[in-house]
Amino acid sequence: MSTVMSELRQDHSNVREILGLLSRQLDAVSDASGGDFELMRDIMIYMTRYPDHTHHPKEDLMFERMRARGVAPDTEATIVKLLREHVALAEKGNLFRDMLIGVVDGAMVERDTLVASGRDYVEFLGYHARLEDETVFLEAEKLLDDADWTVVRTAFEAQVDPIFGPVVALEFDSLHDHIRNTAES
Ligand SMILES: [Fe+2]
Ligand SMILES: [Fe+2]
Repeated sequence: MSTVMSELRQDHSNVREILGLLSRQLDAVSDASGGDFELMRDIMIYMTRYPDHTHHPKEDLMFERMRARGVAPDTEATIVKLLREHVALAEKGNLFRDMLIGVVDGAMVERDTLVASGRDYVEFLGYHARLEDETVFLEAEKLLDDADWTVVRTAFEAQVDPIFGPVVALEFDSLHDHIRNTAES
């Protein structure tokens, strides 16, 4: 498997872990048993920072290389759909992140609205990643050669994951601890 593809698959696995954490927080908010809004805010700051600015653009460039090699009509249709979803995911993510920033800052947001927005995001991103895993990721492995992968890898070389990468960014320290503790328990 190419380095880029293993990074993309690792991103999906990391995102699934984070979405699981977010889902459990949403359950706690939903049944009014609690919910750590600062943690949820940090999750969404991360999601709108790394996946939206590195993971999805890296996939977009990979799709471009696939198109240049010539894709079947059904793969082309999936690529069009996924590109649109990257835009929609960023919009939904920004909306939910801003809602959480507001809540932490003391703004009043209806619990049902917040939970619905969060669940919509979790579901949409989960489905999106699954679709990629089962379709375009498999096609990309068949279509692209070393030169294509080098182009994609080089374009994003400088962008490292601020939580799962080699160095944890200070602002994500507490979220990182939470993920590690959850994994250990
Ligand atoms: Fe994607
Ligand atoms: Fe993805």
